[in-house]
Amino acid sequence: MKGIVVKPGLAGASFEDIEEESGNGRVLVKTLYTGVCGTDREIVAGKLGITRAERDGRLVLGHEALGKVVDPGNSSFSEGDIVVPMVRRPGSCANCLAGRQDYCTDGDFTEAGIRGKDGFMRESFYEEERFLVKAGSEEVGIEKVLTEPMKNVMKIRESIFGVIGRGLWDSVKGRGAWVFGTGTEGLLIGSVLSSIGMRVMLVNRHGLPEIQQGLAERIGAEFFNSSSKDWASGKKRVPMDMVVDAAGAPSILLDAVGNIGHTGIIVLFGTGGAGMEGKLLGDTILSLVDKNLTVIGCEDGAREHYEQAVDFISENGAKYGLGKLVTGIFSPSSIEVLSAKQQGEVKSVIKW
Ligand code: BGC
Ligand code: ZN
Repeated sequence: MKGIVVKPGLAGASFEDIEEESGNGRVLVKTLYTGVCGTDREIVAGKLGITRAERDGRLVLGHEALGKVVDPGNSSFSEGDIVVPMVRRPGSCANCLAGRQDYCTDGDFTEAGIRGKDGFMRESFYEEERFLVKAGSEEVGIEKVLTEPMKNVMKIRESIFGVIGRGLWDSVKGRGAWVFGTGTEGLLIGSVLSSIGMRVMLVNRHGLPEIQQGLAERIGAEFFNSSSKDWASGKKRVPMDMVVDAAGAPSILLDAVGNIGHTGIIVLFGTGGAGMEGKLLGDTILSLVDKNLTVIGCEDGAREHYEQAVDFISENGAKYGLGKLVTGIFSPSSIEVLSAKQQGEVKSVIKW
């Protein structure tokens, strides 16, 4: 069997023969598609410090997958079921034992294709039933490969509803949500916030390519280029009740704290930590306190978020044109797609 292998800490990836596993009653899944994201590219660049091999200093890459059950093993799945494997595997803390490894408190977890567990960029893999989420039977649209990135958004939604009572928000309806970053996660976040009735503004630093423009329209979101001269006035036009950083630029936090309204909510999702040096300013701390702001760090998601993601994509995928996020389909040997963003890319996927 072939797969895409990296050596954590070193740059590069190769498409090569990998060892067959034995099933031991687990479900055998044929990989259909794997998505490529920023996390994969940081691993391939040798720059993601958290990356760990499963064994022998090697790791099969890939954490965004859609597959088909070819042998259900001892599970309740049927042959032909379409499934999405979960990324994070529990350790032994209370949250992990309760199925909320996304809130692991001691770091004793693994993540397929990222830290300590082989991922899904291979022709097939064996998986335990409890880590597989059903995405359909026999045939599903390619947009279901977005289930894994979408599960992060479902956890963001849960987190928002968990804190709105604090600022006496009667509802999120009509509130201004500013989403920084117009990649896959930014657009998925925009679609979900729009579906709960928020007024969504998408922001990036360069202007919106045509495909994203079409998606923004379908989502019902406005767009702002933060490098344009209209930005200063633009950000005053729509109230800033919520800010979501899906760009991984820490400076967004500082800007948000200055501009957001009282009782505002800031969700930090992008994992990048680069681009901001120095200390938090006293003014920022004062605003955080004085405006009663809530800052939420949000990573990963639990089984229920994968299930909600499957449902959301089934119900709203066509309306929001989510399938159009997939802008390129590559073969597993085209490993250059793991190193650089492709022309006009929103989401590149590998077809197995
Ligand atoms: C995945 C998360 C994971 C995070 C950090 C993201 O790309 O979607 O599930 O927790 O990377 O490893
Ligand atoms: Zn990812």
